[in-house]
Amino acid sequence: MYVPEKVVTNDDLAQLVDTNDEWIQKRVGIKERRIAVTETTADMGYEAAKAALDNAGISPDELDLILGATVSGDDISPSLACMVQNKLGATCLAYDVNAACSAFLFLLETAAGYFARGAKNVLVVGAERMSRIVDWSDRGTCVIFGDGAGACVLSAGDNYHDSIFTVRGGDDVIKIPAAPGKSPFWQGETPEPFVRMNGQETFKYAVTAIANDVNALLERNNLTLDDIRWIVPHQANYRIIESASKRGGIPMEKFYLNIDRFGNTSSASVPIALDELNRAGKLDRGDKIILTAFGGGLANAACLLTW
Ligand code: COA
Repeated sequence: MYVPEKVVTNDDLAQLVDTNDEWIQKRVGIKERRIAVTETTADMGYEAAKAALDNAGISPDELDLILGATVSGDDISPSLACMVQNKLGATCLAYDVNAACSAFLFLLETAAGYFARGAKNVLVVGAERMSRIVDWSDRGTCVIFGDGAGACVLSAGDNYHDSIFTVRGGDDVIKIPAAPGKSPFWQGETPEPFVRMNGQETFKYAVTAIANDVNALLERNNLTLDDIRWIVPHQANYRIIESASKRGGIPMEKFYLNIDRFGNTSSASVPIALDELNRAGKLDRGDKIILTAFGGGLANAACLLTW
């Protein structure tokens, strides 16, 4: 993982919008987040990618593919994956998959297709500079996001057991409009290019998605929660996880949470959480874990794997 050095607290945000530390901690579970000051999205993705390669003991020329995910890329083109490829000095195929906050799981599924065709090593990277695309005057969104990147090196094997993907397409709940452009011919709407979200609808969608997906994975793989060391969820709101825990009958202790320190880093949140778990020695080879995520699309996903 890579996160910017700059820590922005809830009190810092209270200087910008009408909010306060108590509201944010109680309603979302965030104490602070990291915000980029000079790092681009590609810089953060590269740093996480480099750390993942070092950790795996794999060199860039051993990669068959780099898959990237971002909703806050520096450019529409080149993609994040192409920029990471360039910065690493790799020569392999590289492209992005757009699935907002669930994207990291979509990358794992895409990688599985390449492994089925004989790929040996795939690098997956989620990197976000959400601070660039939030409306800093909207207290309903600017308090929940943070910046950062996470990456994993995947190698051929049989540790990716099962996955669930659901898409309910539409822009009524979460929308991030693209740059409005300057066409002299355009007569339609030109929304500002910032995150727009119906918080309560997103909340409900997320709770159902996590509870249903986790339980479906357990059931169809004949597993119980005792077989699972960790459930690593997309970190969007502590209360979403609490509600999913109640709804799905999943104890809170099964979920790994770090939202208090990083906020919602979109596609980077699951790999950041995985890296923390790994480096803290809380993951052992052979542990079964479930990853679960939801977000813009709308899309949600979960997968079962052995570490
Ligand atoms: N500080 C203080 N008050 C705030 C606030 C803030 N940052 N943001 C909203 N409020 C106020 C609202 O204006 C409202 O005031 P009112 O009752 O006077 O009208 C009140 O708090 C409750 O607003 P509501 O929208 O019902 O709050 P909520 O409990 O649903 O929390 C979210 C809002 C956004 C934190 C919550 O809905 C959420 O986390 N949703 C999911 C978002 C998400 O996961 N997005 C990412 C998807 S990947």
